[in-house]
Amino acid sequence: MFNFALRMIRKGDILEEILVEDFAAESRCIARVDGQVIFIEQTAPGDIVDIRITRKKKSFLEARPLYFHTFSDKRQTPFCSHYGICGGCKWQHVQYADQLEFKQQQVRDQLERIGHQEDIPFDPICGAPHQIAYRNKLEFTFTDQRWLTEEEIKSGEILERKGLGFHKPGMFDKVLDIENCYLQPDLSNKIRLKVKEIALKEHIPFYDLRSHEGFLRNLIIRNSNAGEWMVVLQVKSGQLKWIEKILKGIAKAFPEVSSLYYIVNPKKNESYYDLEAVHYAGKSYLTERMENLEFHIGPKSFFQTNSSQAHVLYSFVRDLGGFRKTDTVYDLYTGTGTIANFIAGKVKKVVGLEYVMEAVEDATLNSTINGIDNTIFLEGDIAKTFNEDLMNTQGNPDVIITDPPRAGMHKDVIQAILKTPARRIVYVSCNPATQARDIDLLSEGFRLIRSQAVDMFPHTHHIENIVLLDKI
Ligand SMILES: C[S@@+](CC[C@H](N)C(=O)[O-])C[C@H]1O[C@@H](n2cnc3c(N)ncnc32)[C@H](O)[C@@H]1O
Repeated sequence: MFNFALRMIRKGDILEEILVEDFAAESRCIARVDGQVIFIEQTAPGDIVDIRITRKKKSFLEARPLYFHTFSDKRQTPFCSHYGICGGCKWQHVQYADQLEFKQQQVRDQLERIGHQEDIPFDPICGAPHQIAYRNKLEFTFTDQRWLTEEEIKSGEILERKGLGFHKPGMFDKVLDIENCYLQPDLSNKIRLKVKEIALKEHIPFYDLRSHEGFLRNLIIRNSNAGEWMVVLQVKSGQLKWIEKILKGIAKAFPEVSSLYYIVNPKKNESYYDLEAVHYAGKSYLTERMENLEFHIGPKSFFQTNSSQAHVLYSFVRDLGGFRKTDTVYDLYTGTGTIANFIAGKVKKVVGLEYVMEAVEDATLNSTINGIDNTIFLEGDIAKTFNEDLMNTQGNPDVIITDPPRAGMHKDVIQAILKTPARRIVYVSCNPATQARDIDLLSEGFRLIRSQAVDMFPHTHHIENIVLLDKI
């Protein structure tokens, strides 16, 4: 049944009884027909499926499943009613053990292929004990033209088009209204639905993402492991009467919400990091606890979105670091200094480097409130600040922790690391491909000792990996 004559496959073609071979990047799977690579959505290895080609590129094709002849034994029933339409949790149809196996395999492949590593000393991937309600922050977008499902369009009914939910992946103007999301504890659903209910009842205009008219733009809901909740409403202009209707309504309905903010954003895009968050009522921050430490989280503060797995991740960093009381440690890309503060008690001094000023302020504040006095956080682009001058003033690193963004480390940072006398590097990464590239570049001075993946985001393709590198 898999003997196809060589053929030219085109967009729109329907191919029958295709065997899905393996997982691939971006939550898709891969099949090969006549030597051509096809990435297929919403499938699992072992499925036999009829597909429609949705896109043709030079070296690959993309497809959607139409009809399943055989279901893979790696499957499970998706738990969310928005599965397949929403861009989140794309792997809910795959059993968690198989998700983890694939993530581990991805790390292995990247380290071998890109990092040129052999006989990699892997520790088994650390799965998340909670595979739903694991996030502490979600952002929802208002729309007055919500995305309609095929069934809704077919129904011919006149439907409410105002919505509050998630952007369709890669589509700035398409928003899927969300009834129930499993990513945050359920109170998040209740708050979001209440905000929508008040807005509809009070006829408060929802934003039009194309014409940029309307009022209600975005809703951020954050919660902490101390059981506190924060709501941040983003609006286009400062009409207090509408803002108050919503924020007062939330305060009245949900005593768990301890902090209320709003942001006035007249810009065309939804980003708010350059805008003032106006404190409306309650506490000005949430408290997140990790062991004996407290972290204050403001409306714009960065904090790992899966708190309990962040604790696991940071504990690995602390254990793998092999820190000594005499060590000077550099925490590169320190963010709000959570790792730096978490390990401070084990070492002589931690120097945290970060280019977002607010994050540096949060990091310093988090040291202060925890009575930590052996950290220093410095603002600036690491490619420029991590140099000999800095080490002359702050001391040479004994151990370097690095946790760069997805793009990995700048080559100048890698060169600077190679020149230091550091005996060890603990490299935390949310992108094993760039991590592997950087390990290859570091290999003239450091060798890979251990690799430990941690799953922070069940039901997604995202992987966090820590590697330990020792001076040769
Ligand atoms: C993955 S986050 C690290 C977060 C932190 N380690 C934690 O666990 O909370 C990467 C951080 O690097 C910062 N960053 C990115 N590029 C930078 C650069 N060139 N110089 C300094 N900081 C940078 C970002 O602002 C962000 O806070």
